[in-house]
Amino acid sequence: MSNLIFAGMDTVELAKKYGTPLYLMSEDLINDRCKEIRDDFLNKHPNTEAFYASKAFLTKEMARIIKREGLGMDVVSGGELYTALEVDFPMDRVIFHGNNKSIEEIEMAVKNDVGRIIVDNIGELDLVESAGYKYKKIVKILFRISPGVDSDTHKYIQTGQVDSKFGIPLNKKSIEKGMEKLSEMKNIQLLGFHSHIGSQLFDNQSHLKSIQIIVKLMKDVKDKFGFVTKELNTGGGYGIRYAGDENRRPLAYFTDEIVKEVEKSTKEYGLERPTITIEPGRWIVAEAGITLYTIGSIKEIEGVRTYVSVDGGMADNPRPSLYQAEYEAIVANKADKSPTEVATIAGKCCESGDILIWDLKIPQVEAGDILAVLATGAYNYSMASNYNKLPRPAVVMIRDGQDRLIVRRETYADLVKNQI
Ligand SMILES: Cc1ncc(COP(=O)(O)O)c(C=O)c1O
Repeated sequence: MSNLIFAGMDTVELAKKYGTPLYLMSEDLINDRCKEIRDDFLNKHPNTEAFYASKAFLTKEMARIIKREGLGMDVVSGGELYTALEVDFPMDRVIFHGNNKSIEEIEMAVKNDVGRIIVDNIGELDLVESAGYKYKKIVKILFRISPGVDSDTHKYIQTGQVDSKFGIPLNKKSIEKGMEKLSEMKNIQLLGFHSHIGSQLFDNQSHLKSIQIIVKLMKDVKDKFGFVTKELNTGGGYGIRYAGDENRRPLAYFTDEIVKEVEKSTKEYGLERPTITIEPGRWIVAEAGITLYTIGSIKEIEGVRTYVSVDGGMADNPRPSLYQAEYEAIVANKADKSPTEVATIAGKCCESGDILIWDLKIPQVEAGDILAVLATGAYNYSMASNYNKLPRPAVVMIRDGQDRLIVRRETYADLVKNQI
């Protein structure tokens, strides 16, 4: 029987060394994605920028990797910004997002000279202005627009539709109110617009439609306010292959068309071609990660279902419960054995909804076997919780066949250390 090899390493040996549940990340795969971004976007098209959407997976080590790979970073909270500061991430290469940024977070961002604040609503202008005034700085911003474009993905990860909690609604009144309010501000410089329409998208059409709408807006604000857009941030959202999905698209499937559409639309309106920015998250890290679990209880309900329970679940991977996300998995210590059974992989949280995978085809398993769930690099560790007081797993990064611990497994003591 042979063991599953991931990033050149024996996963069963790593499970023995670090315990389970265990997040394994391949730095080599992350580097490959960053290289594709440099080769097929940044170095291929002039006047382009790329920021890693750190919400997908963020540790200090990941911030160091992104810094080394020459990308910028998109952060959405004081905590993500703090992580970037901890590794001396160049602040002018950080953009700050969020639909409800607190004044403390905005001041933290302005004080540390983040490159851009992506203003999500008109009211936020007052907070940015007061922080700019307090720190005697001109704050560079983009307006996040909700273009009213539906995208073919799960409702909870759609963001560009009309009824969205994100962005300034695309109507005359809101935009004019925003531009007029801006003209009163002394500590803010608007550079352009942003829109992110959704996540886990396989089709580039909603991106292109959103661009057509935003470029029209650029035309309108130029005609009405004389404002020349310098930057257009098109967000992220590029899909990856989970169970049952199409294969991940090459980056250029999205970015070549995005650049073409921006250039075509701006030309049609006689506008300057702005800097074009992308913010991929999942596309960079998802397939670079797997999670190892130890199989525990096995229960057959005759004629109904066999439950195979593992030592993790929704606390380390909430996506199946939250989005009905589907994953593939392999029995790591029986990697060469063909499947003979169908089993449902249950998590150990006290929730019937804590099912990682329904009806997985696997070889016969027993307690102690190691199960590897694939493509868990994005929105797993970053969304993990301590539900049922489960300590969060360790994270191991692999590069050139070398493993290193980048996040220590939480202990029970960690769970109560802040309790009075
Ligand atoms: C503003 C913004 N940009 C980029 C992203 C990254 O999306 P993805 O990980 O799908 O590329 C998100 C994800 O939610 C987002 O909200």
